[in-house]
Amino acid sequence: MTAAKRDVKHFLQFKDFTRAEFDYLFERTRWIKQQFKSYKQYWPLSDRTLVMIFEKASTRTRLSFEAGIQQLGGSAIYLNTRDSQLGRGEPVEDAAQVISRMSDVIMIRTFEQRIVERLAAHSRVPVINGLTNEYHPCQIMADIYTYIEQRGPIQGKTVAWIGDSNNVCNTWLQAAEVLDFTVHVSTPPGYEIEPERAGLHGTGHFKQFADPMEAAKGADIVTTDVWTSMGFEAENEERLRDFADWQVDAEMMGIARPDAIFLHCLPAHRGEEVTAEVIDGPQSVVWDEAENRLHVQKALMEYLVLGRVDS
Ligand code: CP
Ligand code: NVA
Repeated sequence: MTAAKRDVKHFLQFKDFTRAEFDYLFERTRWIKQQFKSYKQYWPLSDRTLVMIFEKASTRTRLSFEAGIQQLGGSAIYLNTRDSQLGRGEPVEDAAQVISRMSDVIMIRTFEQRIVERLAAHSRVPVINGLTNEYHPCQIMADIYTYIEQRGPIQGKTVAWIGDSNNVCNTWLQAAEVLDFTVHVSTPPGYEIEPERAGLHGTGHFKQFADPMEAAKGADIVTTDVWTSMGFEAENEERLRDFADWQVDAEMMGIARPDAIFLHCLPAHRGEEVTAEVIDGPQSVVWDEAENRLHVQKALMEYLVLGRVDS
C-alpha cells in the first residue's frame, strides 16, 4: 500500500504492456479461469481493496471487477461522479492521493484519457483504465483471450473492424502493434481513424477500406461496436444515417473466413451495427467474450498488485 509512485505499474492503454507480459497474463488467465470453473478457492488478494470510479454507465465492467476482486479474496468500493466529491470539482490529483492511501488498486471509467493519466501520476497504487473516450484496454484483453481460447494464437491473423473509429477500435489498433496481427478498418467517410489519437507507432499493422465488405474479406475475426459511444449522444441521429451501410450482417460474415468468429464488446444494438442473425448466430462468441472480462481482469489485478506469480 505504500509503494513509491515511481515503482507503480499501471494499465492505462494497451501498449503499456509488452508482448511478453501479455503472454504471461493470458497464460495466467487460463489458470485462474480453470480454478474458478472447478470451484477452487484462490485468494491471493485477501484483505486488498479495489476502488472503482465510474463517471460513465456500466454493466459488465462494474460486475467483472467487483466479482473479480471478491473471487480473489479482496473487496471493492464503488464511487461515481454523482455522489462523490469528484462530481463537485475536487481535482483528480487530490482524489488520487486520498483514494490510493486507502486502497491497493484503482479502476476508473471516465471521459478524456488525460484524466486517468493525471490520476495515475498522483496514485501510490496501480490504476486501471476501465474505458475512456480514447481507449478500452481491458475489453481488448478479453477479446484477444477469447480468440486464443477458441482458435489459438492471434499473431498473423486479421481482424475486421466495421463501424466507428472509437475507443474500442483504437485499442484493437494498439493491440495489433503489440501482438503483431493486422486490423482491416472500414468506417464511413468523416469517421476515419486518427493514428495519433490512437497512440500508434506506425508499424503498418492496419489497413483502411472504404467498402466494409472488402475489410471483412478473409478475416479471422469480424467485430464492431455501437455507432454512438457514451458521451457522443448528441450526434446519434446523424450517426444513424451515416453508419447505415456499416452493419455486420450474414452476407458480411459469409465473406470472412469460414471459421471466423464475431465479437462485440456489448451492449449491442440489434438492427444497427449488427443484425440479430449474426450476434445470436453460430459464429458469435459474445457471451464467452463478456465472461472473459472477469478472468482476464483477475489476472490483471493479481499482476498489478503482486507482480508475476508462479502457480
Ligand atoms: N463492454 C463493456 O465495457 O460493457 P459495460 O459498458 O457494460 O461495462
Ligand atoms: N464504444 C462504447 C463502448 C461501451 C462499452 C462506448 O464508449 O460507449
